[in-house]
Amino acid sequence: MDPSTWLAFFGDERTIIINGQRFYAPEMATRLETESVSVARSESAHPMIKVANLTKRFQKHTNMAAVNDVSFEVGKEVVTLFGPSGCGKTTTLRCIAGLERPDSGEIMIDGKVVTSMEKGIFVPPEKRSIGLVFQSYALWPHMKVRDNVAYGLKVRHVSKREIDDRVGRVLDNVGLSGYEDRYPAQLSGGQQQRVALARSMVYEPKVLLLDEPLSNLDAKIRERTRIELKGLLQKIGISSVYVTHDQEEAFLMSDRIVVMNEGRIMQSDAPFEIYHSPSNKFVASFVGRSNLVDGTVVSRNEQGATDGDVGTVRILGNYDVQCKLPPSLKAGDKCLVMVRSNEVWLYMKPPENIRTIECDVLSREYKGAMTDHVVKVKDVTMIVSTHRFCDLNQTEAAGGKHYLYIRGESVAVVPSD
Ligand SMILES: Nc1ncnc2c1ncn2[C@@H]1O[C@H](COP(=O)(O)OP(=O)(O)OP(=O)(O)O)[C@@H](O)[C@H]1O
Ligand SMILES: [Mg+2]
Repeated sequence: MDPSTWLAFFGDERTIIINGQRFYAPEMATRLETESVSVARSESAHPMIKVANLTKRFQKHTNMAAVNDVSFEVGKEVVTLFGPSGCGKTTTLRCIAGLERPDSGEIMIDGKVVTSMEKGIFVPPEKRSIGLVFQSYALWPHMKVRDNVAYGLKVRHVSKREIDDRVGRVLDNVGLSGYEDRYPAQLSGGQQQRVALARSMVYEPKVLLLDEPLSNLDAKIRERTRIELKGLLQKIGISSVYVTHDQEEAFLMSDRIVVMNEGRIMQSDAPFEIYHSPSNKFVASFVGRSNLVDGTVVSRNEQGATDGDVGTVRILGNYDVQCKLPPSLKAGDKCLVMVRSNEVWLYMKPPENIRTIECDVLSREYKGAMTDHVVKVKDVTMIVSTHRFCDLNQTEAAGGKHYLYIRGESVAVVPSD
């Protein structure tokens, strides 16, 4: 087991190792005993987690912050932190857990300030009523499922009857009733993952923090397990912060996605909005597969009218598309237009009654479910993905004149940087 990735209670029952760091907590065991029992979730109106202006620098005296002025709230929902490697997802999660002290900012859990560098408040992790699930679920290999889940309660001196009761309930919740006497090695990866989840849920935490919990599983099992995990989180109805850099997982798991880059929040929205209405160049290029082309706003409907968010943009020289426009753009403004690779039409002959634009197909790459075509329109190169029943894919070679049709629904306009 890798002790650096899990929260573990140790022999003297008053020392806790969290992510490799040893905390000595006098009287912790006795205090936790009472606290861990009284954790009924409050149904109050405030968000369960509130992160305000969180900043964390690992290297002092540098401008680069791992987390830079990050603010978001989590209600009774799954919020996913999503972004490229090194963008600050884990650091944000560790700050919420109390495993990291930020340089500034405030964190509240269930209406109580747990971190405020300005006010000098820092509640230790074991008193934050959080459940943690990490990539490496690090079950104790010599303990049966029941004992792995019960361990934390035992060292907290919870009564045997209550332990049996809570372990039984939580194993039932994660669909592992009947597996109590198995050792971790006798379980599939997905089942081990559920034991790890049960182990953090047995404390009945107010919030659950999950950092890439499925990335140890192979692709097929991972696909199944994430659907199971989503169902579980919905059933339990616990406020959760989920960290992933896997796009599909982010879309599937989340009620809301917080897209991060270089320590900052780029956009926080429902999955549909993140995909179809990116608010800036980073989100437009990072989420999904698309082409970003330069455009100019030709006109916009009068703002305030029912269709006031719609207008016309010109791309690729003289191709006009009617589409949604962000409020900041007006006629004459330069902009960037995101064209989804899999949402445009590519024809071998120009169809009647549809305004297409001529293009050259430079090359074609077979990708299994889809085929990518590299096309050149004027001096712009774009990728267009087509499915296997597209006529174009049946022809022997790429090359020659083709015709592109771009619908307004397939584009999103963002301001130029
Ligand atoms: N203990 C540390 N000491 C110094 N720098 C750190 C430490 N932990 C993280 N960092 C740096 O902070 C930045 C954010 O790291 P973080 O682990 O939060 O990224 P992440 O978004 O979780 O990435 P990944 O998807 O790769 O897990 C990175 O530049 C990383 O190198
Ligand atoms: Mg990480």
